[in-house]
Amino acid sequence: MGQILVTGGAGFIGSNFVHHVLEHREHSVVVLDSMTYAANRASLDRADPERCRLVEGDICDRGLVHDLVGAADAVVHFAAESHNDNSLSDPSPFVRTNLIGTFTLLEAVRATGTRFHHISTDEVFGDLELDDPAKFTEQTPYNPSSPYSSTKAGSDLLVRAWVRSYGIEATLSNCSNNYGPYQHVEKFIPRQVTNVLSGIRPKLYGEGKNVRDWIHAEDHSSAVLTVLEKGRMGETYLVGADGEVDNLTVLRTILRLMGRPQDEFDHVVDRPGHDLRYAIDGTRTRQELGWEPRFTDFEAGLADTIKWYRDHRDWWEPVKAATEAKYAAVGQ
Ligand code: NAD
Ligand code: TYD
Repeated sequence: MGQILVTGGAGFIGSNFVHHVLEHREHSVVVLDSMTYAANRASLDRADPERCRLVEGDICDRGLVHDLVGAADAVVHFAAESHNDNSLSDPSPFVRTNLIGTFTLLEAVRATGTRFHHISTDEVFGDLELDDPAKFTEQTPYNPSSPYSSTKAGSDLLVRAWVRSYGIEATLSNCSNNYGPYQHVEKFIPRQVTNVLSGIRPKLYGEGKNVRDWIHAEDHSSAVLTVLEKGRMGETYLVGADGEVDNLTVLRTILRLMGRPQDEFDHVVDRPGHDLRYAIDGTRTRQELGWEPRFTDFEAGLADTIKWYRDHRDWWEPVKAATEAKYAAVGQ
């Protein structure tokens, strides 16, 4: 494999994936990213310019997408509108990018025969009860709750239909909640960490009983590369690291690691339709592909992530005030 086209490679998980590929393989990488509010050029600063090129463009741009897909040996498709809260206040870019954008890529893949890997989320399955022993498996029916998760579910179904109807060479992966460096400060963990660093009280939705299944972005990257190299065509792989923790516990761990009192946060208005619990059963992926997560000590991963935000204030400070103003406008 020579050249990988990474859509959304200036965003959180995409940029982590680009660095992972450059470090562990010899491929060159072309990033296609429209540089929305969620992107940051600085996330790619440490990438070798000889091996990594950023093309600023939209995945809905048919001509551009056709040319870039045709020139690549494989496409890894991360680009998306990715934040549930934003999808509740304005769903329209979610429908456009997640559905039309994925459709545009699939049509280019159909025309050029390029290998395609689609990145998705466990949120397509909806949520689980807090006391349910079950986890999501490849057999769990799709039942998304929000505009974000429903557009991701729709994009997954488009990929599966293009595999079945047109025989494109594609795989899919559905991963649980990621954390790590380069994550936008609108998301739960970086928001609370940068709140503490900015002297703002952390904000917990509701009682904080909701459970998320955390995985380090580095483990997600190694899983995606494994699926790209070893996955069976047309298959969906669930990716998780057995990292279930409720939001209150995550927040209290952050406060403890940052030397702040356990009650130094505000309960704010809950998210409408807030999914209760996500949990991935990744057994099949691990057994079939021999992939294992490496960053399974969540507290150590959180401590490293806190250090990264402490050391990279110039990366997040320019967007912090606007992000908090957006939340304040809806009481969060
Ligand atoms: P992100 O919001 O940090 O990054 C998304 C990137 O896509 C940004 O750089 C943005 O500029 C780009 N983009 C958006 N619209 C575009 C368009 N029309 N054309 C080109 N580029 C565009 O998101 P993320 O958290 O890194 O998520 C990446 C992918 O992983 C998404 O598909 C998401 O659904 C999936 N995912 C995320 C998580 C998570 O915990 N964050 C978990 C599982 C799956
Ligand atoms: P988020 O990072 O938005 O990811 P997702 O909605 O994809 O799970 O939120 C993670 C959890 O944290 C979710 O249950 C909502 C909650 N949350 C808060 O309690 N406070 C916050 O400020 C944010 C942004 C999220």
